[in-house]
Amino acid sequence: MMIFVTGGAGFIGANFVLDWLQEHDEPIVNIDKLTYAGNLESLASLQDDSRHTFVHADIGDTKVIPELLAKHQPRAVINFAAESHVDRSIHSPEDFIQTNVVGTFHLLESVRSYWNQLDQQNKTDFRFLHVSTDEVYGSLTKNEPAFTEQHQYEPNSPYSASKAASDHLVRSYHHTYGLPVLTTNCSNNYGPYHFPEKLIPLMIVNALAGKSLPIYGDGQQIRDWLYVKDHCSAIRRVVAAGIIGETYNVGGWNEKPNIEIVHTVCALLDELRPREDKKSYTEQITFVTDRLGHDRRYAIDARKIERELGWKPAETFDTGIRKTVQWYLDNQEWVANVQSGAYRDWVETNYAERT
Ligand code: NAD
Ligand code: TYD
Repeated sequence: MMIFVTGGAGFIGANFVLDWLQEHDEPIVNIDKLTYAGNLESLASLQDDSRHTFVHADIGDTKVIPELLAKHQPRAVINFAAESHVDRSIHSPEDFIQTNVVGTFHLLESVRSYWNQLDQQNKTDFRFLHVSTDEVYGSLTKNEPAFTEQHQYEPNSPYSASKAASDHLVRSYHHTYGLPVLTTNCSNNYGPYHFPEKLIPLMIVNALAGKSLPIYGDGQQIRDWLYVKDHCSAIRRVVAAGIIGETYNVGGWNEKPNIEIVHTVCALLDELRPREDKKSYTEQITFVTDRLGHDRRYAIDARKIERELGWKPAETFDTGIRKTVQWYLDNQEWVANVQSGAYRDWVETNYAERT
């Protein structure tokens, strides 16, 4: 038996591959296009591990993906591959349509033909798990109840709209063709191997480099934060026990405004790697022009996955963020290697015009 993971060189996918092989001996074929966000260094510890096979390919490749499925005969496909950064979706939405919508469609088609020719037992046992986001539900006001699985889809950014479209395609492949699909909608992840374009790793990396810590707008936007390894355990649980055709919200019960997140990161750095002048890293905080269409609040009601599948997060924000800051302090080489010319170009594109 073996599984396919797509996007397994990205932040969550790489954590998932590493965790999976720590928990199981079941092999993984890891398919990744290696965009700017894919990084094989995150998987360096698996270099001599025969349970991990890496394939450099696009989920939308209608020749290679069917060949790989036929060759390896996976019992499950877990789809992490996506363009995932909201700010990039504002600057270049087309990449998001290509991978998240068209790519997911082609992947579904490849998987459907593979699944169709399996024998009855393997057909029944097969799973396609689509990894999605809470952002498909849109934005909440301060006092509205958290998103349940019944919440209406109201995506507001090109990123969340493209993820919503992919969720709908996945749903339709179950309803129309009977493909055994599962969907998870998770809140903001943080942890090791997170590309420093997203809030938490960007703040750690900029703080240590003596750069400004750019807070969009008033910094009062609220996100629910989940330690990435808890997301990985939720996905393992849903693959193992989720009901076909169902969606599961995954969250950390941990809503915080951005400004509070940045203050926590600064306080940990003040403790673990104090500035030479002994001043706090909070001195580097700068309020900058807001993101276009910035969603005010996301909040996940994760009671269904707890009630039906017995999953809940193992980390609190305090334990998870401490591990995360420590990981970045211990892995400065990984950070230096991802800050390529392309990364510097992005920082210029996204931040230069913000006042
Ligand atoms: P990421 O951007 O770090 O990684 C995405 C990976 O997908 C990269 O390795 C990239 O090379 C690969 N990829 C992109 N296009 C591809 C294509 N066409 N074919 C094959 N591979 C391709 O993203 P992430 O943060 O690890 O997110 C993984 C998934 O989880 C995404 O689907 C995202 O929408 C979802 N998600 C992320 C978060 C979060 O907080 N990061 C929260 C909820 C859901
Ligand atoms: P991000 O990590 O991009 O995740 P998402 O947009 O998917 O929630 O951003 C998290 C929050 O942090 C979001 O409200 C935007 C904000 N943010 C900043 O204030 N400054 C920044 O430089 C970045 C990248 C994000």
